[in-house]
Amino acid sequence: MEEKYLRLINKAFEIRKMAYSPYSNFKVGAALLCENGKIYEGCNIENGAYGPSICAERVAFVEAVKNDERDFDAIAIVTGPKGADVYDMGSPCGVCRQFMSEFCDDNFKVIMTKMTKEGELLDSKILTMDEILPDRFKLKDFNRL
Ligand code: THU
Repeated sequence: MEEKYLRLINKAFEIRKMAYSPYSNFKVGAALLCENGKIYEGCNIENGAYGPSICAERVAFVEAVKNDERDFDAIAIVTGPKGADVYDMGSPCGVCRQFMSEFCDDNFKVIMTKMTKEGELLDSKILTMDEILPDRFKLKDFNRL
C-alpha cells in the first residue's frame, strides 16, 4: 500500500471518533484525497427523524466540493460499531456510490479497511469507482455540461 493511502486511512480512523450516531451506534470515518494532495474528512451524522442522517463519505465530499475541489484520487473508509475491538470492513452504501460518482472518474479508488481500535490496519481492499458502480448514470454525459 502506498504511503499516501496509509496516511489517508489514518485520517479516516481519527475522524471516525467524531461520528454522531446515537441511533445506530455505528461509527464511520471517511477521508478523501484530492489530486492536489489535500485531504477532506467526514463522519456519519444521524438524526432523530432518521431520514436526514448522512453518511461519512458524503460529508467528506461536501467538505471538499464546497472548497472548490473537483479532482479526486481516493477515499478511505473506516467503519465499526461503537465500542468494538476490531472494526470490520464496510463498503459505501448505494446513495454514497451515486453521490461520489458525480465527481469521480472510473479509476477513483475506494479503500475499505479492517482495523483494530488502536488504529492498526489488519486488512484492506481497494475497488475502483467503476467496480463499485458499473454502468453508472451520469447526466453530464448526456447534456455535455
Ligand atoms: N454509514 C456511513 O456513514 N457510511 C457507510 O458506508 C455505511 C453506513 C452510516 C449511516 C448510518 O449513520 C450508520 O452508518 C448505520 O448505517
